[in-house]
Amino acid sequence: MNFKLNIKAETDRINFGDSSALVKFFIDSSKVGTLLDGFYKSLNFSLSKIQRKSFLDKKADELVYYSEKGEPSILFLKKIKIDEDFTPDFFRNYFAGLVPSLKKKHLNSVHVILPVYSRFKDYFETETYFVQTMIEGVLLGNYTFDNYKSEKEKIEKLDFVFHYSDKKLLANAIDNSQKIIDSVYFTRDLVNEPAITLTPMELASRAKKELKRFGVAVKVFDKKELERRKMNAILAVGGASANPPCMIVAHYKPKLKPKRKIALVGKGVTYDSGGLSIKPTAGMLEMKADMAGGGVVLGIIRTAALLKLPVEIIGVVPAVENMIGSNSFKPGDVIKASSGKTFEVKDTDAEGRVVLADALHFASQQNPDEIIDFATLTGACAVALGLFTAGLFTSNEKLAEDLTNSGSKTFERIWRLPFWKEFSSLIKSDIADVSNLGPRWGGAITAGKFLEHFVDKKIPWAHLDIAGPSIKHESTNYTKNFDTGFGVRLVTDYLINKVS
Ligand code: BES
Ligand code: ZN
Ligand code: ZN
Repeated sequence: MNFKLNIKAETDRINFGDSSALVKFFIDSSKVGTLLDGFYKSLNFSLSKIQRKSFLDKKADELVYYSEKGEPSILFLKKIKIDEDFTPDFFRNYFAGLVPSLKKKHLNSVHVILPVYSRFKDYFETETYFVQTMIEGVLLGNYTFDNYKSEKEKIEKLDFVFHYSDKKLLANAIDNSQKIIDSVYFTRDLVNEPAITLTPMELASRAKKELKRFGVAVKVFDKKELERRKMNAILAVGGASANPPCMIVAHYKPKLKPKRKIALVGKGVTYDSGGLSIKPTAGMLEMKADMAGGGVVLGIIRTAALLKLPVEIIGVVPAVENMIGSNSFKPGDVIKASSGKTFEVKDTDAEGRVVLADALHFASQQNPDEIIDFATLTGACAVALGLFTAGLFTSNEKLAEDLTNSGSKTFERIWRLPFWKEFSSLIKSDIADVSNLGPRWGGAITAGKFLEHFVDKKIPWAHLDIAGPSIKHESTNYTKNFDTGFGVRLVTDYLINKVS
């Protein structure tokens, strides 16, 4: 946390107080000069010719102005070009960049004058969501992970005051954003936590502690219980670690009669060394984040409970550390998963699909209306789609359409890859029902095809490969410094649509 934020809704005249900043947007048009002059006049400020000219320059898009007399003491003026480059992420990304830049400026308050919705109708489904993207940006930009810094920066208080004509709508957007982004924080804290601390059992105890607060029941299947349930796939991957494996089952049952029952399954590999098919050093660096799928599932359930969504959710997270030891599973091993299907281990670094085999079978047995799984499953997916896009694999048109729409809206974007049955023949095994490794080509798809073996065919199912967007990357101001929590905003939107 950079600041202790207090986000407020206002309509009235701005009461600046001491040490304040003002954020104002100008939609780019021939009128910007006149609007700018009028704005400065209203504040009794004067703009030098050079400053004016440079802001009006075609290439310029912002001006930071330090006032010499009175409040606000800093102005952040931002030009918006509504053209082919404008995206629904504009405001989220802008505010996520602004917040950290306010550090050490010793401000008490930041006032934001919102632009009118009518100009942005084509980009935001609702007026509330238009406003919500700005507040999400402020909150996402305020995220830090500094638990292990000896010298902590002092956390200052900062009022963030949004000014908009419809105060009720504004208050609603603030409330939604806070609930959702709080859960994104929860997920991000789990994903950013080093594996030395976040062992499988630690993940389970954090899930319990956090979700219990919201009335979500959390069960943890320990090693003994996994053995009893013949979850040999999870046991195989977790076998070599001193930190025993487990499976987390979180159950959110709404007070109101649920409209749907959804199973969410997330890969919870708290560390992926590759096992005996060991990774090179560079490939291991980010592998504390290999439980991001599990973290996202827990974050989504937290939001659903907080928003009291009328949907029953069963979250299933197989949690293991993929390590090396005398109990390692080995290339050449044949393992019988809890469903009774056998698979041949050809590569111990393809461990995500293995632990998901038992988890997807368990999820299928709960008779949900649909199953969605999340996994940092393959580097191949990030090679295909780039770092900021998740891969979507499903044979269900409705799931594909709804998830893709929520992805575009929340800007946690996903892209569907082919999932034809021909890909299944690429993971045949001579000695078992299926192999855990396909050829190099189409690696993200064959990984998905392996999972398909363990899902009940009657249940609509989608698999999201989040290997790229879960891990920090440069594409936006809110993804570049810390692992991202990708998927919480996306699926929260999907669930809200599903039940409304
Ligand atoms: N956890 C990795 C995938 C991964 C790679 C996630 C990079 C995030 C960033 C997964 O378990 C893995 O190692 N996959 C292998 C599969 C291969 C052995 C078929 C891969 O992608 O190379
Ligand atoms: Zn791996
Ligand atoms: Zn992995």
